[in-house]
Amino acid sequence: MVTILVGGQWGDEGKGKIIDLLSENADMVIRSQGGNNAGHTVVNAGQEFRFHLIPSGILYPNTTCVIGNGVVLDPRVLLEEMEQVQSRGISIDRLLISDRAHLIMPWHPILDKLEEEQRGDDRLGTTWRGIGPAYADKVRRIGFRAGDLQKPRFLEKKLSFVLSKIKNPILEQLYHVKPLDRQAILDEYTGYGERLGPYIQDIFPIIHRALGRNDRVLLEGAQGSMLDLDFGTYPYVTSSSPTAGGALTGSGIPPTAVDLTMGVFKAYTTRVGYGPMPTELDNALGEQIRKIGVEYGTTTGRPRRVGWFDAAVARYSVVLNGIGSIALTKLDVLDGFDPIRICTGYVSKGELQEFPMANISHLKHCEPVYEELPGWGSSIAGLRRPEDLPKAARRYIDRLEQLCRAPIDIVSVGPARDQTIRMSSRPQTLVPRQHQQQHQPSHS
Ligand code: GDP
Ligand code: IMO
Ligand code: MG
Repeated sequence: MVTILVGGQWGDEGKGKIIDLLSENADMVIRSQGGNNAGHTVVNAGQEFRFHLIPSGILYPNTTCVIGNGVVLDPRVLLEEMEQVQSRGISIDRLLISDRAHLIMPWHPILDKLEEEQRGDDRLGTTWRGIGPAYADKVRRIGFRAGDLQKPRFLEKKLSFVLSKIKNPILEQLYHVKPLDRQAILDEYTGYGERLGPYIQDIFPIIHRALGRNDRVLLEGAQGSMLDLDFGTYPYVTSSSPTAGGALTGSGIPPTAVDLTMGVFKAYTTRVGYGPMPTELDNALGEQIRKIGVEYGTTTGRPRRVGWFDAAVARYSVVLNGIGSIALTKLDVLDGFDPIRICTGYVSKGELQEFPMANISHLKHCEPVYEELPGWGSSIAGLRRPEDLPKAARRYIDRLEQLCRAPIDIVSVGPARDQTIRMSSRPQTLVPRQHQQQHQPSHS
């Protein structure tokens, strides 16, 4: 029984909170792409956890947590995170790392930063974690994999080649910076191999045994669909595929095993880094939403760009990922705003567009089409039942559902696990396909 959870916008939708919520019913949670560019926040019993690599299901004692083959893994960061989690009384015995996962090597963050500097005004605004360079090396077939950490002789030979023939010449001759020391890297990574060894395994049979038992498997997306390498606002994207398709190649799960794809959407829009964002509010109103929503990056601390809900983006994500269920987060942040605007599409070159265009220049210069809905003017953070929601909040949810063309099953009204409203008794996730009902929008 497989559920994929994807971010529907530009990341930071609140995936961590929703994964934590769904993990209660999951036997296994798998991270399948991205690396420590991700920052997933989970608030449980007054404690806040920020996960960059460890799957957000780790807080449940019976959930196996897997770092899948599609992830790029910085061993130093992972070890730090493992220590932090353990120091807070959480066991990491159920953590597994795919031997196929690629490693972030010391040159990756260095090159990430140098490439960004070289781009000047055209920089992407990456997290400087080395994600792009690590995926580029994977595609170039000079990447190091977690399994290599367990083969010191192989590691040494490969390191000699990659460092002396490729990376150090680039650092020295292209960027005029100091070359890296082979022995120091070898010692460092051999040490990582010893410490991470017990967790590194061939995950393929483990996942497929779980599927064979009909275990409940949850794929934890990182980033968001608009940061997808192919379908996002290229080149202002990340270097992986944070879509449902990417979740499958990043875990080795076949499409036929998937029961449901769930999309997480914030009740407004945020983006970190550069690139087009049609509904951006680069003004006092945007600043107000940023403050109330505490929109500062979990990984880099950068202020997030803020704007109204973009239904063209959401609709695109629904279609692209085959989203059958939506979790809408941070609705409480809009409590005091009146009116509330929703972008229903764009006008570009005189034509109405219902999806974001591939041409980012068109996207940058398009005219968003807005409609206005009344605000509700009261706090919803303490509400737990759909029938208690103010009429105007209900109307906003219904309208988003209609515009996105998928049902909103979960509404989150605060960061804590219990600050959640289940909108329907329809099965929400982790439920076999045959038990799911087709959604019929009531008013479109
Ligand atoms: P992720 O990357 O998608 O997991 O999201 P982040 O953790 O980077 O950012 C989401 C932020 O919003 C975190 O600080 C969460 O604790 C917080 N959050 C999640 N859901 C809600 C909600 O419904 N209301 C409020 N006010 N905060 C929320
Ligand atoms: P989570 O999982 C928001 C953005 C960066 C930058 C672009 C490329 O927490 O939602 P990269 O370092 O990946 O090469 O940067 O992607 N980005 C994210 N934005 N949330 C994330 O992850 C992100 N991961 C990368 O800000 O614009
Ligand atoms: Mg985040």
